Amino acid sequence: MRVRTAHPSLEAAELRFLDDHPEYAGTQKLDELRRTEFARLDQGRHVYLDYTGGGLYAESLLREHLGLLEAEVYGNPHSINPPSAASTLLVERARARVLEFFRAEPQEYVAIFTPNATGALRLVGEAYPFHHGDRFLLTFDNHNSVNGIREFARARGAATTYVPSVAPDLRVDEQLLRHYLTDTAGDHHNLFAFPAQSNFSGVQHPLEWIEEAHAHGWDVLLDAAAYVPTNRLDLSRWHPDFVALSFYKMFGWPTGVGCLLARRDKLVKLERPWFSGGTVVAAFVGREYHQSAPDAAQFEDGTVNYLNLPAVEIGLRFLDRVGIEMIHTRVSALGAGMLDALGALTHSDGSPVATLYGPRSWHQRGATIAFNFLHPDGRVIDERYVDRVASQHNIALRTGCFCNPGAGEIAFTISRETLLGGEFGEGMTLDDYIPRIGLPSGGAIRASLGLASDYSDLHRFTEFAEEFVDLIEVPKDLPPRMAC
Ligand SMILES: Cc1ncc(COP(=O)(O)O)c(C=O)c1O
Repeated sequence: MRVRTAHPSLEAAELRFLDDHPEYAGTQKLDELRRTEFARLDQGRHVYLDYTGGGLYAESLLREHLGLLEAEVYGNPHSINPPSAASTLLVERARARVLEFFRAEPQEYVAIFTPNATGALRLVGEAYPFHHGDRFLLTFDNHNSVNGIREFARARGAATTYVPSVAPDLRVDEQLLRHYLTDTAGDHHNLFAFPAQSNFSGVQHPLEWIEEAHAHGWDVLLDAAAYVPTNRLDLSRWHPDFVALSFYKMFGWPTGVGCLLARRDKLVKLERPWFSGGTVVAAFVGREYHQSAPDAAQFEDGTVNYLNLPAVEIGLRFLDRVGIEMIHTRVSALGAGMLDALGALTHSDGSPVATLYGPRSWHQRGATIAFNFLHPDGRVIDERYVDRVASQHNIALRTGCFCNPGAGEIAFTISRETLLGGEFGEGMTLDDYIPRIGLPSGGAIRASLGLASDYSDLHRFTEFAEEFVDLIEVPKDLPPRMAC
């Protein structure tokens, strides 16, 4: 029979937490915001722990956006009539605000609006002038939207090299990275891509790599999608050539808008594989000729999302009012508390209840925490059961590999040989495949914190985690697994 430990009240537990994290007291403004702007969380007794999947919007953003749309007539910005000019004005204001938010000098950077971070990454991948002899270097720890760039590189004869991370902390083998960065010869286009923060383990990779890579002639693509919602990215301090991000991860609304921040001197080397409406100043049919539009316009295919773009300005203004540094302080304290809570949980026999993938300490990491719960005998608890218990607690978590297979392969020690020996064959289900490559479960559990997180989330997460203490078996009626 399972013995439940007596649980301290929320208030008593929060006082203890404040003793350990006095800096949290300075973020009280966010508690007020939770009551006013995110009341739906507590009204529905939600514990939202999937901010790396998608941020939550403050209610006032919706009102402000809707008010703006109600007050004017907006038309397609590709004209010069007044409703069109009204849209253009707002789009350009949003563009200027993006540069300002990231402290990017307009002489140095251009902000290109895309449908999402993936759209920004694709723009770079498809237009980067890879040729035979060029290199595409990237960390194992990358989202599939960065991994996919290797297909553009391969199609044009460039070589792809991966730099592995090292378990258990899942930080990159920096010696090997340096070896690859310095191992360049001749006059080539070489692209190095890494995430500022891992969407799997929360590891924050050193931004110092940008300058190091530049010193050896590499262009640098920084995937900032998981980093910018809770960290300041200061482009007056760091100068990556390309930065990809999605705005819904930063402030929840709107979806469908992302951005590529590109250095002007590197934008000119991109070769777009086509042109479209919006990207040319002139195109002819009788003579197959087109003249590309300058700057951002050359990369914004078709009509930009002109009714949603004003919400980007509103969202960034909101973040400025709240202060990204305050959000950072809060999620760091809560994240450290979550690591402590998971680390402290043991079964009756003293064995650990959770195993972490990523750094155990709060040094150079963000508030995205990947782990699995364990049975007392050390077997991984099926993530589908964890999902079920999380739903019973009204907790939103993520399970699986989070579109970051490289981090997962290292976390679960799946070798290249194993992968070569185990094709994901036609007609095979994920449930057939998982044992074939020796995965102990369908992936990890990921909890991520953000703008509206508060201590009650951590408290309820801890109560939820205690459900797995002394758990010997899970029920047999778990659903089939969906695609990874
Ligand atoms: C690090 C990272 N890069 C890229 C992406 C892709 O973002 P989107 O799906 O918004 O294009 C994500 C999404 O989770 C991410 O976490």
